[in-house]
Amino acid sequence: MCGITGYYGNKNMGKYLYNSLKRLDYRGYDSAGIATLNNGKINIKKDTGEVEQINQKHNLEKTDGKIGVGHTRWSTHGSTTKQNAHPHLSCDERFAIAHNGIIENWKDLKSQLNGHRYTSETDSEVIAHYIEEKSKEMSVEEAVKKFFKEAKGSLAVVLLDSKEEKMYAFKRGSPLALGIGNDETFLGSDLYAFSTETDKAIFFEDDEYGIIDQTGYVIKNINGEEVEKEPENFDWDQEEAGKEGYEHYMRKEIGEIPQAVERLENSLNSAQEKQVDRFVELIKNHEKILFTASGTSYHASLMGVYFLNKADIEAQTLIASEFKNYERVDEDTLVIAISQSGETKDVLDAMEYSRKEGADIASIINVPYSSVERESDVSLRIMAGQEVCVAATKTFINQIYTLLKIANKLGYQNHLEEIPKRIEKVIEKNEPKIKQLAKELKNKNDIYIIGRGDTYPIAREIALKLKEIPYIHAEGMMGGELKHGTLALIEEDVPVISLIPEKNSEIISNVKEIEARNAKSIKISPWTGPFKFPNSNSKFPFYTIIIGFLLSYWIANEKNLPIDRPRNLSKSITVS
Ligand code: M6R
Repeated sequence: MCGITGYYGNKNMGKYLYNSLKRLDYRGYDSAGIATLNNGKINIKKDTGEVEQINQKHNLEKTDGKIGVGHTRWSTHGSTTKQNAHPHLSCDERFAIAHNGIIENWKDLKSQLNGHRYTSETDSEVIAHYIEEKSKEMSVEEAVKKFFKEAKGSLAVVLLDSKEEKMYAFKRGSPLALGIGNDETFLGSDLYAFSTETDKAIFFEDDEYGIIDQTGYVIKNINGEEVEKEPENFDWDQEEAGKEGYEHYMRKEIGEIPQAVERLENSLNSAQEKQVDRFVELIKNHEKILFTASGTSYHASLMGVYFLNKADIEAQTLIASEFKNYERVDEDTLVIAISQSGETKDVLDAMEYSRKEGADIASIINVPYSSVERESDVSLRIMAGQEVCVAATKTFINQIYTLLKIANKLGYQNHLEEIPKRIEKVIEKNEPKIKQLAKELKNKNDIYIIGRGDTYPIAREIALKLKEIPYIHAEGMMGGELKHGTLALIEEDVPVISLIPEKNSEIISNVKEIEARNAKSIKISPWTGPFKFPNSNSKFPFYTIIIGFLLSYWIANEKNLPIDRPRNLSKSITVS
């Protein structure tokens, strides 16, 4: 899972590729590199680390060329080394490739080729050698088609051919877009790659490939037949404004939540009103409602199940990567996919499976024009703006706000107006205490969080944030489950965070069970414990997760960790 970029034109090549890679590095930041064509020769610059560090070391910005490809990597096959960084070259150095995805049968493909020298442990390098070998007996285009037909798995590939001075781009599974400028052509894993340069793009469908040269571009299907594709004009309001004085994007993005919610509310009532009505109608018209999502978005989907239940609509949710193993869907099913990036492969796979079985698909996404949006019958945008930090914060709030709005339309009475202002107050009133608590928790190895009803998903989400950002093992649980096993781990001083919206005897019994074992009991509640909240039980999940976000942030800050780019992760997971 990685980001790829490509450019054919007269811009300052190094500068363009460098900026494009910086915009794509949320897709992976283990290593990065570029391959450029200058005077008939391919020049490769690549290394481990983030794009900015690599630029400092190798001066990416000062690289000439008329054609160039770039890559930012999240390691799958092969560890994070300079050799495994893309682009990869063929032995004769005629071809350079950048690949996003996984080629499942790379070993079989490799075994067809004799006498090639491999310099990496990746599945991707085989592409360059395969095209080199096959193009000895057929045209490069035929070799690309042959590879495309034989390769199994997911791929978005950009291939630079130094001899014919062309780029080839092909896609199956992983996303790929082509941007159209004035006498210049862009390629990218998504619109972020080139949205500073053009607002005209074409999205490749599976099993399509493109040939880009000085005359422009042509798109064909896997059989070599030309495909007419109308360029789309996209409205892009996703420009990232920088850290604006904050040390980290995560803290800045938590602070942006109130505005993001207001923007969403306006959009749901105006520009997206029709889609909201359609979404609601689809829910009413289907017998079975199934959510699917991954990570934080899955926790949002749990809230969706809870809210729909309150509107008297039965729904279920399942983690996208296990969806097809546990769920049966048919034409009476509405699948609701939730994804911030709209590119999560597990979610796209669950959607594909559901589509084949005849289900209708609705979705809730943040990134406009993403694959999930384009593959849905109806899609709502959560209008959170670009989220740079890998940890989802403002997008989680806007996901659950959208779900609450839908449940409202279906009969769950709930006032939403005061949410943005109250979130602002929750941050303002509680941050000093959170910083203090962060100091107390920074050396803990395990933290448990318990909730019931609508705070159960929040407990799960706080646990995910504690793992992801300050690297603390955490478990978010249903309060009632504690006594069925986990209580064995609760001993003196083990931190347990309880989410207690009201004087609810069930969760209070769970707190008593914890305190009887001398655990370090931390209560998040409007009526007890150190934090201050507006007195609104039904909106408590919105306020309590803010405490969880800030707590994870401040513990990680205490530990001096790379908050916006946690180890081993990436913002968009485009492999299954
Ligand atoms: O883009 P998506 O919402 O589909 O991403 C799903 C997860 O990968 C994502 O929520 C992940 O868990 C976040 N990094 C959590 O903060």
